[in-house]
Amino acid sequence: MRALSGIQPSGKLHVGNYFGMMKPALELQEKGETFYFIANYHALTSVNEAEALRAGTRDVALDFLACGLDPERTVFYRQSDIPEVHELAWLLSIVTPLSLLERCHSYKDKVAKGVPANHGLFAYPVLMAADILAVQADVVPVGQDQKQHVEVTRDIAIKFNQKFGETFKIPAPMIRASVAVVPGLDGQKMSKSYNNTIELFAPQADTRKAIMRIVTDSKTVAEPKDPTACNIFKLYSLFATDTEREAMAARYRAGGLGYGEVKKALYEHFQAYFEPFRQRREEFQKNPERVEQILQRGAARAREELRKTLKAARRAVGLE
Ligand code: ADP
Ligand code: TRP
Repeated sequence: MRALSGIQPSGKLHVGNYFGMMKPALELQEKGETFYFIANYHALTSVNEAEALRAGTRDVALDFLACGLDPERTVFYRQSDIPEVHELAWLLSIVTPLSLLERCHSYKDKVAKGVPANHGLFAYPVLMAADILAVQADVVPVGQDQKQHVEVTRDIAIKFNQKFGETFKIPAPMIRASVAVVPGLDGQKMSKSYNNTIELFAPQADTRKAIMRIVTDSKTVAEPKDPTACNIFKLYSLFATDTEREAMAARYRAGGLGYGEVKKALYEHFQAYFEPFRQRREEFQKNPERVEQILQRGAARAREELRKTLKAARRAVGLE
């Protein structure tokens, strides 16, 4: 089984990204071949300051390594180090109906939020299809919000295969039901665009402040509470063991538990969970040459796969 996924360097890594995408993706390192990359071409649709893109790209590299990406097992690379992906995107665009792209929620949401509706934003899913099909991935570990993009990839691959002959493997999204959508501080989906995130590697005081901002109802300490309706509990559950979660749920139902106490427990779990990651991140940060070497090696390996696929696609359409 081969897995591929990417993350845009367009904001700080948060708990939603980690549990929704990064953790499931990294767990696959044990089970098959893994290709993970920094989607910096995609990020250009929202980041238009060169230094911010460079810094964001460095951050994602450190984030992945800090969270346990093993460069001996995973092909890890920057999208922009294999620009041939754009040739593949072009060949795919030939079989991509406009109506397919017009249906994409992500595009519609961004335009509704005032992001200029340019060609890059519209064609975003075609480049994403090229990322995935380039390495003939079987599965794409992502959060729920990226499911439609993977479905678009499938449609494009099927169309291409029908028109030009079997060229691409048809990939499937891989979404963890338990963490499909991690809630943010306000209960909506945690997302950098809603300013409701808990960042993984922020200073401790900022993490504490963020956790204190989690929105709750106004029940008093004495009142019994429904854990399943509480954002703090949902976030706590991501970190807690089954036994801890059950014990906490029982205390919610019994009454006498204040939200402040649960926030404190969440903060402590967060710190304990991510502290080793933070240390690993600092080590890599001190060694940028090592990080660069990992990315270069990954790009060389990813390019081998991309070239094979591209050759097959070029032959299929008659460029060769
Ligand atoms: P954001 O919404 O903050 O802009 P991205 O769109 O860059 O995050 O998402 C990067 C990856 O993290 C994607 O695979 C996405 O599905 C996943 N992800 C983002 N937010 C969440 C969330 N709240 N719950 C689960 N997965 C998420
Ligand atoms: N669109 C994805 C996101 O915003 C990033 C991405 C780009 C991606 N290419 C990909 C994810 C290929 C999985 C596979 O999170």
